[in-house]
Formats: sequence, C-alpha cells, structure tokens
Amino acid sequence: NQAKIVVVGSCSVDFTTYAPRLPQPGETLHGTKFATSFGGKGANQCVAAAKLGANTYMISRVGEDFWGKKYIHNLKSFGINVTHTKETKDVTTGIAQISVAANGENQIVIVPGANNYLSVTDINEAQILIQDADVLISQLETPFDTTHEAFRLCKGVRLLNAAPASTNIENLLKLCTVLCVNESEAALLVGFEVTLSNIKDTLNKLLDYGCETVIITLGSKGAAYSTQRDICVHVQCSNVVPVDTTGAGDAFVGALATFMATHKKLPFHQIIGAACDVASKSVTKEGTQSSFPDKYNPFEVVYQYIML
Ligand code: RIB
Ligand code: NA
Repeated sequence: NQAKIVVVGSCSVDFTTYAPRLPQPGETLHGTKFATSFGGKGANQCVAAAKLGANTYMISRVGEDFWGKKYIHNLKSFGINVTHTKETKDVTTGIAQISVAANGENQIVIVPGANNYLSVTDINEAQILIQDADVLISQLETPFDTTHEAFRLCKGVRLLNAAPASTNIENLLKLCTVLCVNESEAALLVGFEVTLSNIKDTLNKLLDYGCETVIITLGSKGAAYSTQRDICVHVQCSNVVPVDTTGAGDAFVGALATFMATHKKLPFHQIIGAACDVASKSVTKEGTQSSFPDKYNPFEVVYQYIML
C-alpha cells in the first residue's frame, strides 16, 4: 500500500549560517559554521514523504544552472520522480539564506528565482498524475494560480501548507481539503495573535474558509486540529532538545501526507501524533532534508491528546 504523493512546490538551495544568536538589524555577528544544503518547502516535504517510503513525484522548476542540475540529482537520490521538474532558462534556482541560533531558532530570506515560473501549463502537463494522487501537497513558495489549478484537478486529498505566511489565499482555502499552518501563519489568516489558549476559536475561524480539516502546528507543544466546528483536539508530542528547527514543519507535512494515505483507518489523532513524532526527530539534527528520519514505525506509540 504505497502512498502516491504529488508535490507542487519549491526547490531552493539553502545557505545556512549557525551563530550563538540571531543578529539584530545592522549588526554583524561571528558565526560558528556554514552549510549549503537542499531545501525549499515543497522539496523538503516531498523528501520527508519519500524517506518514509511513499511513492513521490515533484512538480517544480529549477534554474538551468549549476544548482538546478545538482538539485534534480538530489531529488533522484531519494527516489523521487522528477519527470515534471523542469530546468528554466535565464533564471536562477531558488535560494534561501538561513540563520540558525544556538537555541534552534531561525530566520530566513528566500529568493524564489525559478520557483516563480512554475505555471498552470506545467500543471496541465501533469494532469493525469495529479488526478490520481492520493495526496497532493502545495505551499506558498510557488505561484498561487498554479496551486489553484492543481487543486482543481486533484480528486484525492488536497493538502495546503499555507507557508510562508501569506494573505489573499481565500481561493486556495476553498479548494483544499486539509489546511496545515503554524501559529504565525494562522494569525495572519484570522487577524489576531494565536496561542494555545485561543486555538479553538482559531480553528473554527479557519474552518469557515471552507476546508474539511484544519491543523495548527504548535512547535514543541504538538499540534491541534479540527474536522468539525467546535470539536477540537490537541495532540501532545514528546520533548526533545532542539538543535535546528528549520524544516520541522516540512517534516510534519510530508509525514502527514504519507500517513493519511497509508493509514486511512487510524483515528486522526494517531496520524497527527505520528507526524509530530517525525517532526520532533528532525529538530534533533542539523539541516532539513538530511535530518528527516528514514522509514520506521511511529504507530507503536499511543499519542496523548485532549479535547479542547
Ligand atoms: O521550511 C524550511 C524551508 O523554508 C527551507 O528549506 C528554506 O528553503 C525555506 O524555503
Ligand atoms: Na533539522
């Protein structure tokens, strides 16, 4: 029962500096380490799913340059199908400049480059693949119209990770079946600060946009979800010492997509608990894709949850 997961999203090269803390505006800091790695929310989520054993397809664009070729090679190394990952002339591969502090916090500037060229035509060329996907995942690092077309075609689960935080996505929220956001992304959509204390109001307000399921990830506090107005569940997650939280949300989303496809019959809090477990494992290691766990069984654990 291999899950067929299709990702419509970004590929970016991450240039990451590690420093004792994040710099203030105008400040120059001495860092302790520098790393170049493969990132971008779309590809990260696809890799997370692939590592967990899913059958994965990446619909994306990279530049026709050194990094674009390297990136395609990287996707292939995880067994990801790249038939619909195209090299684009006269534009650079997407990049992200990331700073990571000793406490695991991060700060990111992205330059989308080729990611901005992922088009509705690219989606139409992959129509059959998209139609038959168990889960189609998309984020907000590629053009919204492109994601809209993919959601319109897909008959399976349409999972929107509304990251990075953006407004004017009502059209996408109407078409997705599952919405997954963190607290700050949720805050931008509902217009008030989001904490665990008002999570129920937040979930209700997000459900009003029209999707079937809303999930809010809460970092070390796990995740809360709702599939029906006024019925909200908070799933706790195990405590770990964070080393690098970059891409933890992507690990969660990739795992969520995989488990929703492979474990349809399990209660949803177990699926969420397992996705939190994958994300927790990723924060104990530096980097994004390299920190995502290989296939293991997260369902031996009974995850703790409370009704809110
Ligand atoms: O979610 C983490 C990702 O966000 C990084 O890999 C970086 O590329 C940014 O897009
Ligand atoms: Na990590």
